[in-house]
Order: sequence, then structure tokens, then C-alpha cells
Amino acid sequence: MAGSALDTVSADEARARLADQLLAGRWITSPAVEAAFRRVPRHLFATGVGIDAAYADDVVITRRGPDGRATSSISAPWLQAYMLEQARPAPGARVLEVGSGGYNAALIADVVGTDGTVVTVDIDADVTDRARTGLDRAGYRQVTVVHGDGEYAHPPAAPYDAIIVSVETPDLPPAWLDQLTPAGVLIVPLRIRGMTRCLTLRRHEDHLLATAALQCGFVPMQGDGRQPTRRLALRGDDIVVTLDDTTTTGVNPDALASALHSPRREAWSPVTITMHEGSSFESLHLWLASQQRPFGTLAVDRERAAGLVDPQDRFVCPTLLTAHSFAYLAIRKLDDTTWQFGTHGFGPDADTLTTDMLNLITVWDDHHRHGPGPTITVHPTGTHPPTPDGPQLLVTRRHTTITVTWPNSGEPR
Ligand SMILES: C[S@@+](CC[C@H](N)C(=O)[O-])C[C@H]1O[C@@H](n2cnc3c(N)ncnc32)[C@H](O)[C@@H]1O
Repeated sequence: MAGSALDTVSADEARARLADQLLAGRWITSPAVEAAFRRVPRHLFATGVGIDAAYADDVVITRRGPDGRATSSISAPWLQAYMLEQARPAPGARVLEVGSGGYNAALIADVVGTDGTVVTVDIDADVTDRARTGLDRAGYRQVTVVHGDGEYAHPPAAPYDAIIVSVETPDLPPAWLDQLTPAGVLIVPLRIRGMTRCLTLRRHEDHLLATAALQCGFVPMQGDGRQPTRRLALRGDDIVVTLDDTTTTGVNPDALASALHSPRREAWSPVTITMHEGSSFESLHLWLASQQRPFGTLAVDRERAAGLVDPQDRFVCPTLLTAHSFAYLAIRKLDDTTWQFGTHGFGPDADTLTTDMLNLITVWDDHHRHGPGPTITVHPTGTHPPTPDGPQLLVTRRHTTITVTWPNSGEPR
């Protein structure tokens, strides 16, 4: 039972272990954030799961919608540590968190200290009730918990030195910028053509410039800022292509579903990757998404789709499209440490799409894989991104234009 003497001891041990793990993984890099993780009792917020699950370096789902999908969770500790380190609020800082749960707000409150201000806002009254209860039990009564739509932030306590958004958003609503101090930082999981990147954004001239970007996943924004994606279920929920931009039009869901009955065209690239701890190729995903052509992301039930559709990533796999065909990124193991990139295509245009995919993988490998990665900016409506001198993706949302600009690669190697 939570709260027993035995539980308190094991919670203290589990919490110390988690902090050690986050330090070793370099997710925690500052003494203030380390102290917060060592102090704040996560199990008081992760009610309904045992101590082990509460202190695992993993997400704890706390609420699901009628369709069974998660609508609220306590984010994974590595991601909370990353966001807090990126925000680095100083003692006495004013911080707004969009999307509550209580635990993360307590971590922030611990870092900014009693002279600081922490406001956390959630659209779901059940979540704010639970957050309030957890914060009171854990001794963080100074945190203000607000039930409302985070799209509008929380003017009474503005301006904020940092706004930490803990829900996936397709856009930056004007209120976040209006309520951010001139030197403030915005940490936000921004959805860019179906890919979510946790961006660290600061003001730069008339726009915001990302100084860091990390692949992540969050529950999607509800309320007035909701901009739903288009979901093409090709075989029930087992195989789903998601479209996240208004430029991808003319894709025929029935034709894509029928394409699954055509033979799978496989093509393999000479580009390989050595898998070791920390190896990442998230820039390949963003590079594929950055092409000015119809694009979607594929999600599959790995077991039920196996043998037919085997994407490199079962949740968010880059997929090139035509009206009747698709080809997604694939990967296969060559030996204990080496994996090879490739693609599987379906439908009448499978040859073209798989050839294009291999060419794009080669360009990424030649020019972008070991480079600085793209520059990501967010331009509020009314400001205009300059003409790029390299390949660029533009995503036009209601309030902003997002740009992803790759360094000019010059001649192929
Ligand atoms: C991942 S959870 C937040 C986790 C939390 N920060 C923690 O302590 O780990 C995302 C939350 O965002 C909330 N949410 C979704 N849309 C929102 C909106 N428009 N305004 C405020 N909260 C929203 C959901 O209800 C959900 O509770």
C-alpha cells in the first residue's frame, strides 16, 4: 500500500537509483535538476502503479480517451530531465507548464525555489484535481494549478521566463509568445509533418530559433489548438498512414489499401549504421519529411502486420506517397552490430518511390548525416522566412510558419 513505512524506504531507494541512472545517461547535467530528482516523490503522482513502475525511466499512462488512446501521462523521467535542463530556470524564475500531472511541476518548483513562481495548466479537470492532490501531499503547495486551455497560457502570472509545453502541439499560439519575457525560453514538442521534435526556442530577430531539437512523443493537444491529422487506416488499426499537412492532397486511401495486395518491392541501400548505445539517425527521418513531395508517417501493430509491412519504426515511420502507392523506410540486420537502411514499396509506383527513397538516404548519408543538422525556426504569421540557401521544408500552420532548413550540400562527395 502506498504510504507504508516499507514503501517509503523502497521509494527512497528507487528514487536515488533513478537519479543515478539519469546522471549516468547525461540527461541530468546540473546540480539543481539532480537535487530535484532526488527530492520529489514521483510515486505520489504515479498513483495506481507500484514503486518500481513509478520510478522506472518510462512514461506512466494516467488517463485514456474513449478510443483507448492515452490522453494524459506522467512523462518519462529522461524527457522531463532533458526539458528541465534545456529550460534551466534560475532560482526565483517564473515558469508556466502547459499540460499537468503534478510531478513535473514539482520538479520545476524545486529548481526555482520558494522565490520562484510555477503555474501548471491542464484542460482536463480530472488531471488538475490529481495534480493538486499530489502537489499538496508532496509539499509543493506553492504551485498554482489551473484548469483551462493552455492555448491561452495564463495571463495573471505572466510574463514567464520559461514556458514548458508537455503536450504535442502542431503550432505556437500567440499567447505563448505574448506571455514570454524577451529573453525567455520556450520548450515545446512541435509536430512537423508527423514528426515530433522537442524544440528549445528563443527569440531571434522577428522569429524563434531552435537551439536544440530532440525526437520525442507526447499525447496530442486538445482544445482550441487542436489540429488533427488525417488518419488512413489501410487495414483497420494494424496499418495506418497519417497525413499531417495540407500540401499532401490527392492520396487515395482505398488505392493505398489495395496496394497492400500487390507484391512488396524491397530495395536496399549501401548505407548502413552501427548500432551502439546512443546511435541515432533521427535526422534521417526529418530529412525524408523535408522533401517537397507527398509524405506521411506509418504506424503498425508489429505482430499483426509482420511479414506484410515491416517498417523501421513502428510508431512514426517516414513514408513517401503517390495517389496510389507508398514506400516506407526499412532496416535490416546484417550482423551483430550493423544494420542496413532500405525501403519497402507497394502499389503501381513502388519502383519510383523505392528508387527515390534510396536516393534520399544516399544524399542524407553524403551530406547531412554527420553535419550540424537542419536549422529549425518558427515564424509568427506576419513575419516571413528568408529565402533559404539550402533545401527547406515550410509547414504553414494557423499562427506560424515552421521552417526546417538543411545546410547547402554543394556537389555530391
Ligand atoms: C503528457 S501529459 C503532461 C505530463 C505532465 N507535465 C507531467 O507531470 O509529467 C499531457 C497533458 O496535456 C493535457 N492537455 C492536452 N491539451 C491541452 C490543452 N490545450 N491545454 C492544457 N492541457 C492540455 C492533457 O490533458 C494531459 O494531461
